[in-house]
Amino acid sequence: MKKLILLFSVICFTQLNAQISDQKLDSIITNLSLEEKVYLLIGTGMDLPGVPSGAETPSVAVGTTKDKVPGAAGTSYTNEKFGFPAVVFADGPAGIRISPTRDEAPAETFYATAFPTATSLASSWDVDLVKRVGAAFGREGKEYGVDFLLAPALNIQRNPLGGRNFEYYSEDPVLAGKITAGFVKGVQSEGIGATIKHFVANNSETNRTELNTIVSERALREIYLKGFKIAIKESHPWAVMSSYNRINGTYASENRELLTDILRNDWGYDGFVMTDWFAGKDPVAQVEAGNDLMMPGTGVQAETILAAVENGDLQESVIDRNVRNILKKYYLTPSFKGYEPSNKPDLELNKEIARDAASQGMVLLKNDNALPIKSNASVALFGVSSVETISGGTGSGDVNKAYMVSIKDGLQKAGFNLDEKLVSTYDSYVKKERAKVPPKQVFFLPDVVVPEKDWTKAELKDFAKNNEVAVYTLGRTSGEFQDRKIENDFELSEHELNLIKDLSEAFHAENKKLVVILNIGGVIETQSWKQYPDAILLAWQPGQEAGNAVAEILNGTVNPSGKLAVTFPNKLSDVSSTKNFPGTALDPDQKPANILMGIPAEEKYEEGIFIGYRYFDTFKVETSYPFGFGLSYTEFGYDNLEVSRDTDQINLDFEVKNIGDKSGREVVEIFVHSPDGEVEKPEKELKAFYKTKLLQPDESESISLQINVDDLGYYDSETNSWKLDGGAYEIIVARNAEDPELKAEVSLEGKTISKTSDSMNLQAKLEEFSGK
Ligand code: BGC
Repeated sequence: MKKLILLFSVICFTQLNAQISDQKLDSIITNLSLEEKVYLLIGTGMDLPGVPSGAETPSVAVGTTKDKVPGAAGTSYTNEKFGFPAVVFADGPAGIRISPTRDEAPAETFYATAFPTATSLASSWDVDLVKRVGAAFGREGKEYGVDFLLAPALNIQRNPLGGRNFEYYSEDPVLAGKITAGFVKGVQSEGIGATIKHFVANNSETNRTELNTIVSERALREIYLKGFKIAIKESHPWAVMSSYNRINGTYASENRELLTDILRNDWGYDGFVMTDWFAGKDPVAQVEAGNDLMMPGTGVQAETILAAVENGDLQESVIDRNVRNILKKYYLTPSFKGYEPSNKPDLELNKEIARDAASQGMVLLKNDNALPIKSNASVALFGVSSVETISGGTGSGDVNKAYMVSIKDGLQKAGFNLDEKLVSTYDSYVKKERAKVPPKQVFFLPDVVVPEKDWTKAELKDFAKNNEVAVYTLGRTSGEFQDRKIENDFELSEHELNLIKDLSEAFHAENKKLVVILNIGGVIETQSWKQYPDAILLAWQPGQEAGNAVAEILNGTVNPSGKLAVTFPNKLSDVSSTKNFPGTALDPDQKPANILMGIPAEEKYEEGIFIGYRYFDTFKVETSYPFGFGLSYTEFGYDNLEVSRDTDQINLDFEVKNIGDKSGREVVEIFVHSPDGEVEKPEKELKAFYKTKLLQPDESESISLQINVDDLGYYDSETNSWKLDGGAYEIIVARNAEDPELKAEVSLEGKTISKTSDSMNLQAKLEEFSGK
């Protein structure tokens, strides 16, 4: 039977073009039964302890292919009449998350490449690089039988404690949106679909399925929706994943203003929307709101939708609309085209791409003549994360990778002479400590970083005598379902702090340098200790090639060129969202039934649009490292800014020159300061950016950039429109948010840029909730 279906589908699909015509879609939809259509609106379920699966609804004549690609997060139903094959959905932002082994092929492995985490990719500020990475995801997914990648994720990094910040790009929607667009273009260039997620305002993990995000329409439009809009306009992702949370009272997946008025009517989106896994409560409301597909799908959802149509509560035409959205994109997938995955992606090539991306995303935060280190230097390597280097975070953003190059391995391979006593002591210490950590019950629970090892001052003195330089790696991990903690997470533990101070003292006494490597997924506190080391390299969680990438930066083979996609504050309380993060439980005495289920809670985005540098800048709050900051082993000069204006766009021409003595690349950031008007505005906002080619010493690059005049507007929720104030706009060409290099002014006339859908409900609900 299976073979027959396959044959039928092959015949059927070879007759079809990649883009199915409306006419053909109409005829398919007319010939599908109601039940068959409903089963296109849900996935085939997922085995999770205690959660009902969608597989067993006896009355419906559709097949299940839940195990088509073992370990994938979701699968669609087949349909015999039309020979629809099952379509496979797999996470995630750091690599293709599938099982590395399969029962039916015990001799084979199906490992995927663990690429650098999203924050690290964004820190490269290199859209072309990210596109190459996306294409590698696309090829790997396609060869492993995946039709839709459940990535990229572009929620705003609203607070350093966000448990999934590592999966997200930035605190800024323009950077996040442009990087997303690059990634999506790459993935889809290989013929599989990208899913941009989580739509929207899903910026914390605590109680995420029960959380009500209370946010102004202006902040939604200017900050939280903006990156999605950019990504949709520039890269046309096949799918969007709605988020778990409510927005001003209504679940994202049940929210018609979001999914129909804004996404489709305002932005012209033509793909389909799927829920996050088990998100929302009311499948009928989801169908009506424009949430086309329910994932991973349950039998109860199918029955509820069927019943609603049968008793007249839901019109069949609404189901037809959603089926149309879904099928339009399914027809583009490898499965629908009858593609036979090889299960042999080019992992060797992807490993190189992963390494390159990892080093391009690393940010040099400090360097007092400590780096680069000569390749054969004797190095005293400290830190449990030098041995157990962290590739990425946990949960659906995790990857089943074939190997991990630790920083220890990478440095050794690159020829550094690591102090042997230190290496063997750390190896056995980490092994002993790891043995004490109970094994994880479920894959998505967070990993544990073993406690840092203590050293006496006398021991450190010896290491300082016997080695040329000290390198200390500090690691952090986090993941889905939980936000991060302040103690021993955002802040350093006492052991870590003491080790940095003692290492600094011991090595400086010998006139030797201390380098700290941050192997972290999100922002940590740096202000209180950054004076102790001579260099700080922010390596992020750089994927499976971590050690090799760190080594090539340390020895200068690669000149660091990453810059921060997120501000490092002096203290957590300086961050504008901290006092409301991660929200408050409505009933503080209620306890969640289990880790999957939160309790009803609300989180007020009281800071409005003043997120990240928009806040620090406007309210003159000092930072430890500003947004956009990053050093290089060389120096760059900026010159010859010329700004001109066409009707719709502002043209910028300027030059960047390598005025140092090593080749390198520079990230240039264009901020715009807007004139005062009716509403309060941030001091300045990022509107464009550019990463130079590799410039040799004395080499210059002439750069031409454009900014659309309409992108300089603000959102006026009174009139539901984007508006532009008339007056002088200052164009700032900068190294980072606190370091302007060149400035010019253009004068613009005020206007209404565009009307949007009347999302008065969003605003009205906000008022209702904030009045509480
Ligand atoms: C996550 C999604 C993910 C899905 C499927 C959910 O828990 O929020 O990002 O794609 O699981 O694994």
